[in-house]
Amino acid sequence: MEIRLENFSKSFGPVKVIEDMDLTIGDCEMVALLGPSGCGKTTTLYAVCGIHRVTSGRIWFGDKDVTDLPPQKKNVGVVFQSFALYPHLSVFENIAFPLRIRKDGSAEIERLVKEMAGVLHMEELLDRRPGQLSGGQQQRVALARALVRQPDVLLMDEPLANLDAGLRLEMRSEIRRIQRENGCTSILVTHDQVEAMSMCDRIALMNDGKIQQIGTPDEMYQQPRNRFVAGFIGNPPISFCDGVIQDHRFVTEGLDFDLPDRFEAASITAGQKVTIGVRPEYVRPEFAVPIEGEITFVESQGREVLYDLTLAGGKVFRSIQGGGPKFKIGENVRWGIDIGATFFFDERGNRI
Ligand SMILES: Nc1ncnc2c1ncn2[C@@H]1O[C@H](COP(=O)(O)OP(=O)(O)OP(=O)(O)O)[C@@H](O)[C@H]1O
Ligand SMILES: [Mg+2]
Repeated sequence: MEIRLENFSKSFGPVKVIEDMDLTIGDCEMVALLGPSGCGKTTTLYAVCGIHRVTSGRIWFGDKDVTDLPPQKKNVGVVFQSFALYPHLSVFENIAFPLRIRKDGSAEIERLVKEMAGVLHMEELLDRRPGQLSGGQQQRVALARALVRQPDVLLMDEPLANLDAGLRLEMRSEIRRIQRENGCTSILVTHDQVEAMSMCDRIALMNDGKIQQIGTPDEMYQQPRNRFVAGFIGNPPISFCDGVIQDHRFVTEGLDFDLPDRFEAASITAGQKVTIGVRPEYVRPEFAVPIEGEITFVESQGREVLYDLTLAGGKVFRSIQGGGPKFKIGENVRWGIDIGATFFFDERGNRI
């Protein structure tokens, strides 16, 4: 079922949190709402769910206007940031709850709950109460409860936040598998770009209540629309460097190169301030445009090593290279950057 937000706005009193958001999530698609803390992800999810009243705009599930429908009138599965389990019910009954409301037969309930418990590795926990579970286990109960009735729409707010690293990795692919099998249209709220990139068909990256860009993980990484997107997506992050255009060259202290041919005189002008963004995999000894400086940071990550290359003027470029630490802190090196893979941003942060 397609989910569509049309001119969606939400204010709390005088405070505008979301302004005129348009967002369409295709049938069976899983889209991440990604962004820093406070940007309005949960607010958006609550509006889709029907917990918050929208201030203006419409929300559609398929061709049905659900703007004013409460959650219980929609077939939505929800996992919230603060997952409220029923403390007096066993894990089994917590998971079974939506099925009992739906008035499924007891044999069917038994079958579905056990199946879901198997998927989420909690068969042995079914008799416990939520208070007798760890945070991660509670989160899995909340997931099971959301998924058990095979909802049309699955809404998740940081569903993996309380899990340890191993379980998180496993649950990422489990959630994705269940979502694909059920074909439920899903929104995943997260501030973890790796989670968004690895689990979702597309990412809507938000900042300050606005969608900055929406696209596939590859599009977001390779074609960021602005500086915010380039800086948010990518780990280790991209390095930015301010400079000025002179004689069709980018110039800053310690770095000076001819602009690529694609910049016609019209799109970039002499004296214009420009910021470049270079991802760490494009700062390496083998690239053509020379960049000289001192190594000021080395961190081995096992398979790869991170370096900071600090130019004479103090600008810092991060580099990631394979094959063990070959360079030492304090060493002066002449490496290169790949200009073909370098982003250029104007003073307002828009990509040029
Ligand atoms: N009930 C409320 N009343 C007033 N302001 C609110 C309310 N709920 C949220 N806000 C404000 O709206 C903004 C967006 O909040 P929201 O919870 O949507 O952020 P978020 O992106 O989910 O952040 P996080 O990643 O920290 O969960 C915040 O500035 C928050 O303080
Ligand atoms: Mg939130």
